[in-house]
Amino acid sequence: MLKKKQLADSASDDFAADVLASLRADPPSISSKWLYDTQGSALFEQITRVEDYYLTRTEAAIFDEAFPALADMFGPGMAITEFGSGASIKTRRLLTALEPQLYVPIDVAEEFLQDAAEELHALFPKLEIIPLVADLTAPYELPEAFTRKNRRLGFFPGSTIGNFPEEVAVQFLRGARAAMGDKAHLLISADLVKDKDVLERAYDDSEGVTRQFTLNLLTRMNRELSADFDISQFRHVSRFNTEKSRIEIFVESLAAQTVSIAGEAFTFEKGDRIQTEYSYKYTQESFAQLLSQSGWEVEQVWTDPNDWFGVFLASA
Ligand SMILES: C[S@@+](CC[C@H](N)C(=O)[O-])C[C@H]1O[C@@H](n2cnc3c(N)ncnc32)[C@H](O)[C@@H]1O
Repeated sequence: MLKKKQLADSASDDFAADVLASLRADPPSISSKWLYDTQGSALFEQITRVEDYYLTRTEAAIFDEAFPALADMFGPGMAITEFGSGASIKTRRLLTALEPQLYVPIDVAEEFLQDAAEELHALFPKLEIIPLVADLTAPYELPEAFTRKNRRLGFFPGSTIGNFPEEVAVQFLRGARAAMGDKAHLLISADLVKDKDVLERAYDDSEGVTRQFTLNLLTRMNRELSADFDISQFRHVSRFNTEKSRIEIFVESLAAQTVSIAGEAFTFEKGDRIQTEYSYKYTQESFAQLLSQSGWEVEQVWTDPNDWFGVFLASA
């Protein structure tokens, strides 16, 4: 059964107001959540298949081991919610292994979420699906059909938590703890610190898909905010900041130029940058510490043979 999608208050965030305010700031930035319009979400799905982007295939191999163990632990019929569910591709395997009764996918990308839920409904006709449009970094509530279930699991794959600075990550984890209730479990992935070259290649791949993904933000502003970015006059820049343990992604101006966005003029010098995304890299210890300070206790950790990626099972 596919229920009508629900909209949390946080879903009505205004793209124009948020972009204008954060571009007026010094240094200018744009929240990474705006990267995911329908085209951006589709480009992200392409990124997951790129050779240089080791994250998705490494995580998939870990899930091969973790999902059967989770099925033994929880049994069928539980409620699962997924944070930042995107295309819900990984979820198909989780749903097959765990056979839950209810699935609540949550994402800011409204149209993409609805399409993904419809596809999933065709594959799992007996599963109750309630899509929820919400911003995970703001307060939201889960449907009562979820909270009244005895066995509840939150699924946050893809190391999306790495996009949040530490204080936002803590806020998200505490919010998920409050929304899911006592005795809930959380299955969450984190990308681990590794060789700088491997990291930088993953976020500036040789096929150019990560580049397209970042620059699509300018195309989105041209379409939705009547902006007049000349995309050929900007480039995608990504680098690993070792001290802060994060990949930093920027859009960089290739010339001195003025761009109009929603009627407001913004001037760029050659080399000026807008920060569009962070991806924090953790150690097993630092991630367990983040979870424990946010109300979650680590029960089990799965990693790959290189220790590149971690999947953590935690309890509320
Ligand atoms: C890195 S993709 C991961 C997609 C999928 N879960 C996977 O692992 O392949 C991040 C997803 O989180 C969503 N997202 C990003 N920031 C969000 C926010 N603040 N609130 C809700 N969803 C968000 C995006 O729309 C996107 O679908």
